[in-house]
Amino acid sequence: MTTPKKRVGILISGRGSNMLSLISAARAPDYPAEIVCVVSNRPNAEGLAKAQSEGVLACTIDGKAFDSREAFEDALDTQFKRLGVDIIACAGFMKLLTPGFVKRWHDRMINIHPSLLPSFKGLDTHERALEAGVKIAGCSVHVVRAEVDSGPIIAQAAVPVLEGDTPESLAARVLEAEHRLYPHALALFATGQAAVSGERIAGPQVPINQEKALFWPPLGSISGRDPNQT
Ligand code: GRF
Repeated sequence: MTTPKKRVGILISGRGSNMLSLISAARAPDYPAEIVCVVSNRPNAEGLAKAQSEGVLACTIDGKAFDSREAFEDALDTQFKRLGVDIIACAGFMKLLTPGFVKRWHDRMINIHPSLLPSFKGLDTHERALEAGVKIAGCSVHVVRAEVDSGPIIAQAAVPVLEGDTPESLAARVLEAEHRLYPHALALFATGQAAVSGERIAGPQVPINQEKALFWPPLGSISGRDPNQT
């Protein structure tokens, strides 16, 4: 007997490129999740039309049309429950969620953030990473907790920061990694291979088949000595 696919609702506010990466991954017959709807809190989000053209149910629940955040969140909740959503995947969703909503979806809501958490939470991540002079940047997928950009980390990807990078060039490099990371992390979460245990993600135990460490700049690339070379 095959395990039923997890039903995923995606929350967006804008462009929706991560949303598209999830929709596209979920087309594979063996992907463990299906995207049942996309909800935007902004009526003019570009991602809405993109979802529709992919044949995915997409709608706006306008954050500004409600008297309170709670009323807005009740509408979200109703929509997701009506569609039998198991997991909410936030993908560029820019509205703060109340602790009450986060609690209702405890361990059933995930998010992608364009930094190596817990560094650079919040907005303007790439500007701040460049200001701090970090040599390696990246992105994280995590389980959502009430505090912004916090919660057990499911998966991360690292990219180098290059000389002359601008926030835009760094963002573009990180975004490419996001598009590969998010479908992978959602699959791990949907299958339970990545499960919350004691506010951390336990597992998955997989063999390391790539470089065990990412060096940037590469060891020995300029005048530094690569300790692996004799
Ligand atoms: C991504 O960088 C995501 O990590 C962040 O907001 C951006 C959304 O981009 N939370 P898109 O809407 O997925 O293209």
